[in-house]
Amino acid sequence: MSSKKILLGIGGSIAAYKSANLVRIFKKQGISVRCVLTKSAEEFITAQTLQALSGEPVRRNLFDQQAEAAMSHIELARWADCLIIAPTTANLAAKFASGIADDLISTLYLAANDIPVILAPAMNSKMLLHPATQENFRKLQQRGHYILESASGELACGENAIGRMQEPEKIAQKAFEVLGISQPLTPPSPKPLTVTITVGATRENIDPVRFISNRSSGKMGFALARAALKRGLKVNLIKAYCEQIPPENCQIFPSETAEKMLDTALNIANDTDIFIATAAVADYRPKKVLSQKHKKERDGALHLELIENPDIVATVAQLPADKRPKLVVGFAAETENLKNYAQEKLAKKNLDFICANDVSQFPFGGELNEISVISKNDEKNFNAATKTDIAEKIIDYLLSKIN
Ligand code: CTP
Repeated sequence: MSSKKILLGIGGSIAAYKSANLVRIFKKQGISVRCVLTKSAEEFITAQTLQALSGEPVRRNLFDQQAEAAMSHIELARWADCLIIAPTTANLAAKFASGIADDLISTLYLAANDIPVILAPAMNSKMLLHPATQENFRKLQQRGHYILESASGELACGENAIGRMQEPEKIAQKAFEVLGISQPLTPPSPKPLTVTITVGATRENIDPVRFISNRSSGKMGFALARAALKRGLKVNLIKAYCEQIPPENCQIFPSETAEKMLDTALNIANDTDIFIATAAVADYRPKKVLSQKHKKERDGALHLELIENPDIVATVAQLPADKRPKLVVGFAAETENLKNYAQEKLAKKNLDFICANDVSQFPFGGELNEISVISKNDEKNFNAATKTDIAEKIIDYLLSKIN
């Protein structure tokens, strides 16, 4: 394994999410990575994610006394064998070109003037092609920096043009070259981590027009999907009925009933790293689904025989090790004895984690949630917050457990 050290500066572009994968590739080679975020980069990726993936503290500003006491920015620049700025925004390129040092990254750039610098630009094509930006990149190239040309494709602004940041694999390849790591011991990871999420309320048919279901809205599952996408992960949604529109860029597997959901889950479990079951699966389904609409009974009562549905998350969690996702996570929605019931489910279903939430306080369909993520030896509490905030924390927590 390599003992090299990389300082990775991340600028404020939508491409910042790809930096998470870049960190993973370097870590797999045994390379130490320390990340530095600009203020605007934090709009696109969290310090917590990068800290979890790199296993190192993440620096965000110049005047952080605690961080400076641990390792000053000058020591940080000296520590590194190579400086990578990915994504490099037009603003960062302009600052580097003219030597402006008004934040941590631009200060580090000046302080790291005796190590190789790799820049991976990402910006709108008009900004990239502007003579000012072009001139700045020319200057930086003349200074001996490696500039990874942006690729063409769909940009965040909707245009199909040049300006996309190079893929993390390409950036890593350039770094290996520059650092003299000629043959990576293992090839860079070709694909990002995959998260599969079951979501929504299953519908168990009685006849062609009626079904048994529940009040699950799917909001928590979608919030988790969005948080995972934001971190550059691939997301599969095994989707039963949901009121909400699912986020874009997920692979959706419509699965209305528990049986269909199980079928889909078993098909894709092998290609899944993290399996999260948020779906409210009906515990029972009618033994017989009528092919015609049921007519009213003469004696004024309806007798419906129900049989138990398969337990999807338990079946996935009990797969043999070579087919089982690395982490299997369930949800326990309870109205009483929250932690006891959650712990029972964790053990009974062979889960790695269970997210326990009290639906008497935070009912289905609401905007807020409060969750305890419980494992065999640990418990992490996330206090009441929006489902979006809680989902981000859960995904970061799971990512910190998978590496
Ligand atoms: N679950 C599942 N398949 C089922 C039932 C539940 O995958 N047939 C998953 C849910 O998505 C959730 C977890 O199991 O992640 C716990 O679901 P819950 O309904 O709370 O538990 P049950 O096992 O159904 O127990 P009970 O209804 O008795 O509380």
